[in-house]
Amino acid sequence: MMPRFLSVLLLLLAWAACTAAEGAQQEENVLRIWPEKSVVKYGDSLVLNCSSNCENIGLETSLQAVAAGTGPTWKAFNLTSVTAWEPKPLCFANCGGTEPKYQRITPTVYRAPERIVLDPLPEVEVGKEYNVTCRVFDVAPIRNLTVTLFKGGERLHVETFEDHRNPEADNVVVTSNSITAQQNDHGKEVTCHAALDLRPEGPFLEKASPSKLLQTVVFPMEPYIQTLGPVEINTSMPVECEVSGLFPVQKAAIQLFFAGERLNSSNHISGHKVSAQAQVSSTSAGEHQLICTVSLGPLTKTAEITVNVYSLPKPTLHIDHPQIPVNTNVTVMCRSDGSKSPGVVMRISDIKEILLSGVGPSLQYSLTAHKEDNGRQFMCKVELKVDGRSVVKETSANLTVFYAPQMSDSSCPDKLTWKDGNEETFICSASGNPPPTVECRKDAVSYNIGIQQQVTKEHGGIYHCNATNAYGFDVRDVIIHVESYQLDTLGIILGILCAAVISSAVGVAYYMYYRKEKIRKYHLRRRQLQVTGSPMEQKCLNGNA
Ligand SMILES: *[C@@H]1O[C@H](CO)[C@@H](O)[C@H](O)[C@H]1NC(C)=O
Ligand SMILES: *[C@@H]1O[C@H](CO)[C@@H](O)[C@H](O)[C@H]1NC(C)=O
Ligand SMILES: *[C@@H]1O[C@H](CO)[C@@H](O)[C@H](O)[C@H]1NC(C)=O
Ligand SMILES: *[C@@H]1O[C@H](CO)[C@@H](O)[C@H](O)[C@H]1NC(C)=O
Ligand SMILES: *[C@@H]1O[C@H](CO)[C@@H](O)[C@H](O)[C@H]1NC(C)=O
Ligand SMILES: *[C@@H]1O[C@H](CO)[C@@H](O)[C@H](O)[C@H]1NC(C)=O
Ligand SMILES: *[C@@H]1O[C@H](CO)[C@@H](O)[C@H](O)[C@H]1NC(C)=O
Ligand SMILES: *[C@@H]1O[C@H](CO)[C@@H](O)[C@H](O)[C@H]1NC(C)=O
Ligand SMILES: *[C@@H]1O[C@H](CO)[C@@H](O)[C@H](O)[C@H]1NC(C)=O
Repeated sequence: MMPRFLSVLLLLLAWAACTAAEGAQQEENVLRIWPEKSVVKYGDSLVLNCSSNCENIGLETSLQAVAAGTGPTWKAFNLTSVTAWEPKPLCFANCGGTEPKYQRITPTVYRAPERIVLDPLPEVEVGKEYNVTCRVFDVAPIRNLTVTLFKGGERLHVETFEDHRNPEADNVVVTSNSITAQQNDHGKEVTCHAALDLRPEGPFLEKASPSKLLQTVVFPMEPYIQTLGPVEINTSMPVECEVSGLFPVQKAAIQLFFAGERLNSSNHISGHKVSAQAQVSSTSAGEHQLICTVSLGPLTKTAEITVNVYSLPKPTLHIDHPQIPVNTNVTVMCRSDGSKSPGVVMRISDIKEILLSGVGPSLQYSLTAHKEDNGRQFMCKVELKVDGRSVVKETSANLTVFYAPQMSDSSCPDKLTWKDGNEETFICSASGNPPPTVECRKDAVSYNIGIQQQVTKEHGGIYHCNATNAYGFDVRDVIIHVESYQLDTLGIILGILCAAVISSAVGVAYYMYYRKEKIRKYHLRRRQLQVTGSPMEQKCLNGNA
């Protein structure tokens, strides 16, 4: 069996070689396919016309083909559905006894770009680079495809695939790398455009992706937190965080966290600045973190500070006998109860000086009350240094000391000289607590102390003053001397009178001497007369004294 089959095959091969040589000689025998170049959409039908002057025209293809007309020198075939990416239909004809002639064509099978999608665009910081990626799905032939990326009408990137050999439909990914974001890029549209150019035989098919908006951000500075410093336990303190230079500021998100918890802040936007205000408070003393987070697009920036929460309860100040008689002992006690931050210093002081200091929890200061201590204000201060600042709490209390009246030269002078007829006020007061009442009497009659009166001779004399309060009394005598004006007038009159008497006496003496010079004989009698005038002159001098 095998040798017989082999010999038949050899015979056939020899025949085929002979007819090929004959065909080369008979050039009038032609076979043609029309159209020579064709473009067909995948799945569509394609009609091929095989024409030849030979007989038995036929078509060889793996696709389904139906007759679509016939003529004496031609035969048309309908490839009803082209479902191969590289079909190679072959026309053949039998040119009389020799080998059959054949002709093959390769139509272009295409699939239009229908689905074009841009990858989501990142929000990008101005000055930074970003990529744009476009995906074209299920397109053929890829070597005829051109993908173009546009940014706001400006061509960003063009990509072609001339070297792509595979005729099958496939997905294409095009990426434009390292585009530097500019501030004016914000809001620009980015699109991807795919074109399948099958001209001249076929159509020019194009389609664009839905556009996407480019979002750029500017965030050059760090957030900044402001506080008032340390905060007392169980009290609240306002804090603020802000950052400037943001674009687009409306998209910025700001948050505050304190001691691990999100704060309920009120946020504001003004210009290119965003700020958040909140109150911080804590029921536990110690250091707590305050964190401010600002995010804008791809960027998140954080600021963090430590807030010191301190505990410093107000001290209590207790005077064991706040109202006491003089010379009794008093204890001033300062206490600070409850939990305190470490490092508290306590002090007892009055308004002039520090009396005692220590670390507590209580301090005690004792004194013997003197009258100077009446009204003395004692203070108890607790002080804490937090973050280099000093925090102080203080309580005060007053001491009342009761003491007996005391009068002094300044409050009640012991000698007063008044002039008759003048307006004068008799003042006599005394120190003492409670304030003493002062009474001054002369001859069992009380004088109106502190009231202005016209001085008469009767005001003169000794006054007995007695200052009294519940704790005792003090007495003092005040002498008032009243000078009279009438005494002086008399003196002046006597003086004038005396001067007149002296001058007349001198005049008389001179006359006598003159007369003696002239009449010497009556000498003795005249001298006797002059001696009698002498006692008169002495009386005058006495009156004047
Ligand atoms: C096929 O081709 C022949 C010769 O070119 C032509 O005469 C005939 O009309 C064509 N048939 C069709 C259906 O186009
Ligand atoms: C080829 O076949 C398709 C599908 O059956 C039909 O729609 C089309 O009209 C045919 N073309 C011709 C020229 O007969
Ligand atoms: C852009 O693409 C390049 C290359 O694939 C990559 O190295 C780079 O990280 C990408 N840039 C961004 C911002 O994704
Ligand atoms: C595109 O397709 C047409 C028709 O098949 C062909 O002539 C042309 O060479 C193709 N162009 C490219 C760039 O491959
Ligand atoms: C946050 O504060 C607002 C008013 O400032 C208030 O209405 C709201 O209830 C607060 N929310 C919380 C969770 O405290
Ligand atoms: C702070 O408040 C909490 C809860 O109200 C309370 O338990 C605590 O004693 C308070 N601390 C001080 C120091 O007042
Ligand atoms: C008052 O205190 C002083 C010392 O401070 C003491 O000598 C005196 O005895 C005390 N007087 C009374 C009444 O306790
Ligand atoms: C203590 O005295 C001062 C003046 O000395 C006064 O201002 C203060 O009100 C007094 N305090 C009390 C509790 O009376
Ligand atoms: C002063 O007054 C007090 C109280 O009225 C009295 O006890 C005292 O004797 C008086 N002193 C003199 C010296 O009159």
